[in-house]
Amino acid sequence: IPVDPFDLVIFGGTGDLARRKILPGLFRRFCAGQMEEDSRIIGAARSDMDSEEYRHFVREAITEFDPKTKGECAHLDEFLTRLHYVTIDALGETGWAELAELTRSDKVRAFYFSVAPRLFGPLAERLHLHGMADGESRIVVEKPFGRDLESARALNKVLAEHFEENQIYRIDHYLGKETVQNLMAIRFGNMLFEPLWNSQYVDHIQITVAESVGVGGRGGYYDRAGAMRDMMQNHMMQLLCLIAMEPPAKFNPDAVRDEKLKVIRALDPVREEDIVRGQYEGTEDLLGYRREAENPESTTESFVALKAHVSNWRWANTPFYLRTGKRLRERASEIAIVFKDAPHSIFDEDAGRHRNILTIKLQPNEGIELGVTIKEPGPGGMRLIDVPLDMSFAEALGPEEADFPDAYERLIMDVIRGNQTLFMRGDEVEEAWAWTDPIIAQWEDDAVPPIRYATGSSGPDDALMLMHRDGRRWREIKA
Ligand code: BG6
Repeated sequence: IPVDPFDLVIFGGTGDLARRKILPGLFRRFCAGQMEEDSRIIGAARSDMDSEEYRHFVREAITEFDPKTKGECAHLDEFLTRLHYVTIDALGETGWAELAELTRSDKVRAFYFSVAPRLFGPLAERLHLHGMADGESRIVVEKPFGRDLESARALNKVLAEHFEENQIYRIDHYLGKETVQNLMAIRFGNMLFEPLWNSQYVDHIQITVAESVGVGGRGGYYDRAGAMRDMMQNHMMQLLCLIAMEPPAKFNPDAVRDEKLKVIRALDPVREEDIVRGQYEGTEDLLGYRREAENPESTTESFVALKAHVSNWRWANTPFYLRTGKRLRERASEIAIVFKDAPHSIFDEDAGRHRNILTIKLQPNEGIELGVTIKEPGPGGMRLIDVPLDMSFAEALGPEEADFPDAYERLIMDVIRGNQTLFMRGDEVEEAWAWTDPIIAQWEDDAVPPIRYATGSSGPDDALMLMHRDGRRWREIKA
């Protein structure tokens, strides 16, 4: 799909996210023909360099971080000619007049705030002051969007002083993942699932986002956040919303976001006994959390599992079990909709032995699996077994079609197109914090340290208990 010509300014253009995700993503969109000739990317940061030096920097970033082409796409030199650089001081006057001059055009203008949240306000204010906040301008803001309700409100307020809500794109990169969007296609594009999508037929839902990596070099940020703020308040919450929401009347930004908001508002507070926090230990080769985060006393959680309830007509009494953590057995993320037992077994077996499970696999291998019960082949009578109706996207669509764009690529292009459907609205973010805040406050009051778990495990045993005690079981963490 063609995209209008644009100028994209990346504040923090020499930062980690720019190197790893934004610039390689833009390069791939360029290779896909989505950057018209007069589209430009302008890196803006504090470092003193010129555009030529910036191009060199970008060449290295793409060579290192573009997993597909490794920068070997024939067009890299041409792509680099679209890049410019402005040295800018977010808190002072340096560079602003130059930036205003450079972006003076009738093209779409997008400003990516890939910087610390404390700079959001000053950047927004200066963009406004220098005439870059008009109707065609958009700003893109990265997480963390606040660290609690109060700070998120303050951020929303300061952005709203200079930009309209329809100009603000709050990124949650999980919404850019192919299978996450597929959740909506599966639910609302098929007749098959939606009639069963409620507490009458669904026993419970499990959402797992497991990572095998530790906090690595991000300990400084992470130790002040923890899994609850880093993953649960945003990515996991968004997944929960897409599963639980009512069908929007249209696939348009506010219709979808209104429905997600209703889900967050319907969430019960989580009871203390329904939540488990963990922190990983080291091995001979790998540092434990505290050493990695360089905080020997740290009580920050690198794992959290909880049981949530969406208190509304559709989901009354259907628990949502959510867990996420680092240094777990594998990098494997999935959503499993576990259906109830058949009400009565006509066969010589317990009704409870067989269950339909719809699994939506987010990563690393995207796909959908539906577990169904069939007769075991052979003459041995009516014995039942469970088999998966398994669809790997790569197999079903072919490797070319299943070569999905990275979440960032898609989301940046949505910004240029002016489509906010996959971005969070200010009220959604605030409501998500309103749900998260009391949980964190409770931990702080109790000062109970997280439970240690072994690197490469499924997290603390208490997380397993969270389900066992309800007569249920987590699915295995498996790629
Ligand atoms: C980020 C978190 O938002 O998401 C990281 O800050 C986490 O801690 C990452 O590792 C996970 O993203 P993905 O796309 O690799 O699942």
